[in-house]
Amino acid sequence: MEDRKDRVFSETLGQIKPFEFNESVAHVFDDMAGRSIPFYSQVEQMTASLAATFWQEDTAVYDLGCSTATCSLLVYEEVQKQYGIVPGGFEIHAIDSSAPMCTEANEKLRSRGIDSGTIHVRHGDILDIDIKNASVVIMNYTLQFIPPLKREGLIRRIVSGLCENGVLLVSDKTFQTHTDISRIFIDKYYDYKRARGYSELEISQKREALENVLVPYHVKEEETLFLKCGFSSVDIYFSWYNFTSFICVKR
Ligand SMILES: C[S@@+](CC[C@H](N)C(=O)[O-])C[C@H]1O[C@@H](n2cnc3c(N)ncnc32)[C@H](O)[C@@H]1O
Repeated sequence: MEDRKDRVFSETLGQIKPFEFNESVAHVFDDMAGRSIPFYSQVEQMTASLAATFWQEDTAVYDLGCSTATCSLLVYEEVQKQYGIVPGGFEIHAIDSSAPMCTEANEKLRSRGIDSGTIHVRHGDILDIDIKNASVVIMNYTLQFIPPLKREGLIRRIVSGLCENGVLLVSDKTFQTHTDISRIFIDKYYDYKRARGYSELEISQKREALENVLVPYHVKEEETLFLKCGFSSVDIYFSWYNFTSFICVKR
């Protein structure tokens, strides 16, 4: 069995470089996500179930920052479950700016026998791509990596690419309104990582690497951004300390 355990930050690094979704991260990403994102598999499953509920015939699904296509694959399975078969006219655009992630995604889809005509993995920057005729756009743990000044433009493009009653599903690491509460939630998060086998060294080196790369918004700030960009209904479908998942519907 090939070793896919995340050890990216397990050795002392002389110089800590800004975090990148490079080949060594892509290779162990599923283990990293499973042990670093609280309730990762449950959130992905909930996202997929909501995506299938909001999907409309002859429209597209976008998975922005798809990494290894875990969510795209679950959406495919949920659509199959909710509609009996995968309907004609159903397609997912899974996009990521990391070439190694796209390679991992394509390998995973091939190993599951998924037709590349249904889930299209594309190497690209979500700040540049066209989003059109979408009933579902998913952005799980990706918006937090977009430079803050570019977030509003991206959300506005998503709103205009969504059809009536289309949905945007976003999960992110978030801050709380009160700094003292945020600090407690972040400590709880580090306890979560320790309990999943990460050492103090791994936790502190990764925290340093992510500084200014992963920039969380406050929960209310993120909610306000979605409303300001044109979503009429914004709600939370999952929350755990400093992690929040938002559902935004265009009416
Ligand atoms: C934490 S991972 C997302 C996890 C994935 N959505 C999931 O649910 O398993 C963030 C991903 O966003 C991608 N990413 C970051 N900025 C991007 C951009 N501007 N365009 C496309 N992908 C981007 C990264 O390469 C990385 O694979």
